[in-house]
Amino acid sequence: MSAESVGIGIVGGGLMGREIAAAIQRWPALIDHPARPRLAAVCDINPAALTWFEQIDTVTQLTTQYAELLANPDVDVVYVAVRHDLHEQMYTDVIRSGKDLLAEKPFGIDRAAASAILQALEEHPESFVRCSSEMPFFPGAQRAIDYVRSGAVGQIIEARSAFLHSSDLDESKPINWKRQAKYCGAAGVMNDLGMHAWHVPLRLGWEPESLTAVLQNLVPQRPGAAGELEVCDTWENATVWGDVATSSGRFPLTVETKRIAPGNKNTWVFEVIGKTGGVRFATSNPKRIEVLTIDDVPGIGREQGWTALEAGSQSVWPTVTGGIFETGFSDAILQMWAAYLAERVGELGDRFGAATPQEAARTHSLYDAALASAESGRWTQVG
Ligand SMILES: NC(=O)c1ccc[n+]([C@@H]2O[C@H](COP(=O)([O-])OP(=O)(O)OC[C@H]3O[C@@H](n4cnc5c(N)ncnc54)[C@H](O)[C@@H]3O)[C@@H](O)[C@H]2O)c1
Repeated sequence: MSAESVGIGIVGGGLMGREIAAAIQRWPALIDHPARPRLAAVCDINPAALTWFEQIDTVTQLTTQYAELLANPDVDVVYVAVRHDLHEQMYTDVIRSGKDLLAEKPFGIDRAAASAILQALEEHPESFVRCSSEMPFFPGAQRAIDYVRSGAVGQIIEARSAFLHSSDLDESKPINWKRQAKYCGAAGVMNDLGMHAWHVPLRLGWEPESLTAVLQNLVPQRPGAAGELEVCDTWENATVWGDVATSSGRFPLTVETKRIAPGNKNTWVFEVIGKTGGVRFATSNPKRIEVLTIDDVPGIGREQGWTALEAGSQSVWPTVTGGIFETGFSDAILQMWAAYLAERVGELGDRFGAATPQEAARTHSLYDAALASAESGRWTQVG
């Protein structure tokens, strides 16, 4: 297959900007992919953040002004990884520039911002836009999704999707933009981690009609730059219970996004229990996927039990990595980009794709309902 060369521009050279730059350098790991990305340009308002990118020899533009990157004819696709309060302006500018966009979650700081981004996209449908959500690209997650889609679980009894951290347990950790509502958004941890936990339920069509939520601000103050305590006004943990209707009945969907879940470090969890089967996977044990079997056991009789399977390394796009090897966060990022760039040229087929703009915008309706439910203490319709 002859691969199309694609110029990539990154806006925001922080944690995720560097991660994506590194993923692009690992592209040869993919087998027969229709695109060959080349990191052409990077923008960060902080010149010091740009120096790291000097080691990548395909980069011909380093700038502190993202308008300059948008004017660069060598850039076809822009990946934007900046504070949430900057999403609306930058995403709509990318869309209006005629370039394609891989956006970061939460796709605007709130529902109004997400709607404005959708509006820009409606006016410029030629711009191919998706939102980052890489955790479902773990091979074990893909197996779990395929298992659910096969119908093996039968009528669903309950499901859980979670994204769990614990680094915020350290109360001496300095405040940063993710812990301030004016930059992160009123939805707090949901803005930060919610896309990870909602992407698969939304893709499977499990959108609750109503929900109830408990939100917790567990660390209301953190040290600022000078060491003095500053107000930390974002929700740390959000637990949402949704009422999901399907053609075979209703079931409770629990969605947890937590910055303080002791024992967990970037753990993505997905569990489904049904009348005839079940599946569970967590990235804390990336090799292992468990399926519930109900079978006749010789000498014992009909029993239920969990069977552990090894997930291996292969995800949506085949790679040179041996099938028996383990996978990790950086592999999931590479796979999400493989899906994004394949879908951009119509080559994704029936493989799992990155989150759509509609899915990303929908998460804000869920967060709004969760905020309203936490405020009122009542079940709330999702608007
Ligand atoms: N997909 C994931 O797993 C994942 C993980 C972490 C963060 N994120 C998301 O990625 C985005 C960025 O998060 P991060 O952790 O990389 O943040 P970060 O703070 O590490 O990096 C943000 C960068 O943006 C730069 N910046 C600020 N204003 C700018 C401007 N006007 N023009 C250009 N650059 C500017 C900053 O200088 C900084 O280097 C957020 O939307 C966040 O929710 C996604």
